[in-house]
Amino acid sequence: MTQDELKKAVAHAAIEHVPSGIIGVGTGSTANHFIAALAAIKGRIDGAVASSIATAERLQMIGIPVLDLNSVGEMEVYVDGADEITRHMAMIKGGGGALTREKIVAACAKKFICIADDSKLVDVMGKFPLPVEVIPMARSFVARQLVKLGGNPVLREGFTTDNGNVILDVHGMNIVDPVAMETEINQIVGVVTVGLFARRGADVFLMGTQNGVKTLTR
Ligand code: A5P
Repeated sequence: MTQDELKKAVAHAAIEHVPSGIIGVGTGSTANHFIAALAAIKGRIDGAVASSIATAERLQMIGIPVLDLNSVGEMEVYVDGADEITRHMAMIKGGGGALTREKIVAACAKKFICIADDSKLVDVMGKFPLPVEVIPMARSFVARQLVKLGGNPVLREGFTTDNGNVILDVHGMNIVDPVAMETEINQIVGVVTVGLFARRGADVFLMGTQNGVKTLTR
């Protein structure tokens, strides 16, 4: 199977974990396969909270009502992909730039279901550049602080987040303690969100492999 077929397989497997009612939906190519799969069960979905404008548009296209998080409160599940994930369920996310809204919607869900192919499973995170969403005027300041932490931040050229901010992709990080690093980067003035999802990692990881979909739990 190709990587895209593995993504499709986990997206379909995630449907079994979708309860009736309201769900949170992530962003990216794997999440897009999940949205396509949702079309078959949309009768039992009252609505969805989207983690990006792109996801909201896709949900609307298949006829699923998109709800404002402020009017929803808590959800049973949030389903999304990842750029890297460890066996301890910590993740790097934000390759698509939607990390802030992803983290907000995930925080409101009882269960985070990560859907990804097995190329995303790593022992130590950091090979994938760590996305950090930053208030534009703080870009240089934040970049200097990230250099002090051992990283090499690179501005994502020509990209503005749904929140009107910029992204620094931090190369060369060796993330041995993801919880500590998430906390430290979050403290830098001007940082909106770091794409480390360790303090609140995934609860279930549906991993696409050549031998079928494997389920890892926290
Ligand atoms: C979007 O901002 C990201 O967090 C995605 O969830 C992540 O990049 C995974 O994307 P793919 O499903 O496209 O690999």
